[in-house]
Amino acid sequence: MARNSKTSRKGARESTAAVVIREMELPDLAPVFALGQRLFTAEKWPTLYRSWDQYELVHLFGTNGEYCLVAEAGDKVIGFALGSLMEKYRSPWRYGWLLWLGVDPRWKRHGVGRRLMRRLTDIFIEENARMILVDTDEANEDAIRFFRRAGFDNEIRHVYLSLNLDTHPKYIEHRESET
Ligand SMILES: CC(C)(COP(=O)(O)OP(=O)(O)OC[C@H]1O[C@@H](n2cnc3c(N)ncnc32)[C@H](O)[C@@H]1OP(=O)(O)O)[C@@H](O)C(=O)NCCC(=O)NCCS
Repeated sequence: MARNSKTSRKGARESTAAVVIREMELPDLAPVFALGQRLFTAEKWPTLYRSWDQYELVHLFGTNGEYCLVAEAGDKVIGFALGSLMEKYRSPWRYGWLLWLGVDPRWKRHGVGRRLMRRLTDIFIEENARMILVDTDEANEDAIRFFRRAGFDNEIRHVYLSLNLDTHPKYIEHRESET
């Protein structure tokens, strides 16, 4: 049993060596989107305040392409990290923001996420970022463990509230004017 688990661990390491981390390119948009759809489902993360959609992906790629990375095994995209660089008004600090990180579940715990994170960190440092920000659902334990292991700390809880406008007089008025 022990021998088997050791062998499979070694096998995993060998296959991971064939994984290439590179900047995302136009043909990667479709596989990245498809992988994200499998990972970021509304049923799984109903409280995600931002949703995974093709417009955000295309927008990020168009505006922050240098912070969009993919992990490729063979000719298959098996992971991605999408970030952006943020500058605050009147602040000398620049922040790297990791917006989306995803790894194909078949490649989970093979170090792919770690490699994506390391490469993105290097890129942020080259761009003079002094801090990297990330957020995730508090029930997303895999991701929280991953980020803690990657050195993230100073966890701050944030509360999202919503106001259902169904009963708002203006909303009712607006709806009635449209019918
Ligand atoms: C979170 C995620 C990106 C991690 O990717 P990964 O490639 O599996 O992670 P790695 O193999 O690089 O893990 C690096 C270290 O993080 C920790 N870690 C990662 N996943 C973990 C888990 N499920 N449980 C406990 N620790 C975990 C471990 O310490 C691991 O090192 P080890 O395997 O040597 O012990 C991946 O699980 C995923 O895509 N999740 C769904 C999407 C998501 O939630 N994204 C994050 C929010 S945008």
